[in-house]
Amino acid sequence: MPQSPTVSLAAIPPAGGRIVILTGAGISKESGLETFRDPGGIWSKVRLEDVATPEAFARDPARCHAFYNMRRARHRSMDVQPNAAHHALVRLEKEWPGDVLLVTQNVDSLHDRAGSKNLIHMHGIYTQARCNDCGHALDWPGDMSVEDICSGCSRAGGLRPNVVWFGEMPMQMERIYEALRSCDLFISIGTSGNVYPAAGFVAAVRKMTDAHTAELNLEPSQGATLFAEAHYGPATQTVPAYVDTLLAAYQ
Ligand code: APR
Repeated sequence: MPQSPTVSLAAIPPAGGRIVILTGAGISKESGLETFRDPGGIWSKVRLEDVATPEAFARDPARCHAFYNMRRARHRSMDVQPNAAHHALVRLEKEWPGDVLLVTQNVDSLHDRAGSKNLIHMHGIYTQARCNDCGHALDWPGDMSVEDICSGCSRAGGLRPNVVWFGEMPMQMERIYEALRSCDLFISIGTSGNVYPAAGFVAAVRKMTDAHTAELNLEPSQGATLFAEAHYGPATQTVPAYVDTLLAAYQ
């Protein structure tokens, strides 16, 4: 595990500064949703090759549906709610004197339910379905099966979770890179830095801009040494504190 930055340089962008935030599964952990690579995480219980690739879906769609049905059912339970970190990012979006774009790798809807508006789900969202036959996308909060019929083309068997599987292109990448190219602050929250292209965002920001970079994670990520600033601890503590620091400069 790389060492975290030796110097934590707190730097506040100018008023009007553009902030890009990347989140991963760690921000949803304290809401009761599992991460992927922590001990006991999702990929320690099921092989991603069996449930999260186009080939897996073609081979055994029922198994893929069962995997996402289980995650959607967990997500629907009453005790899974946005936490203080999600709410702090909504406050930042509302009160920061500049543009704030939130890019999440997460396929849960906790950022949406917290109230984030300028939000990109680069890996899609499992509370939507997409039809492999006609491309129609629709909200789908409940269970999905191969028998379900697409309301777009009236055919069964083509509906899949509207998520990005390994080997597929993440969503809205042009818009994301455009924001990275012009940001003044890049914040990475709750991600291990294992999966590209998201894991490459901090290097891209450093290459293309003079932006400040900050990592807020439980522990140093794979890309920890690329960040100018780091705060390690649970997101429900580090994110509200960091947002307070940013907003205090303009209040
Ligand atoms: N607060 C902050 N960070 C946390 C917390 C917490 N309470 N709990 C765990 N973390 C951190 C872990 O230290 C880890 O670095 O969150 C990170 C979670 O890493 P992963 O499980 O690898 O999840 P993520 O980085 O989001 O995975 C990226 O991989 O499997 C694919 O598509 C999937 O979007 C996912 C992508």
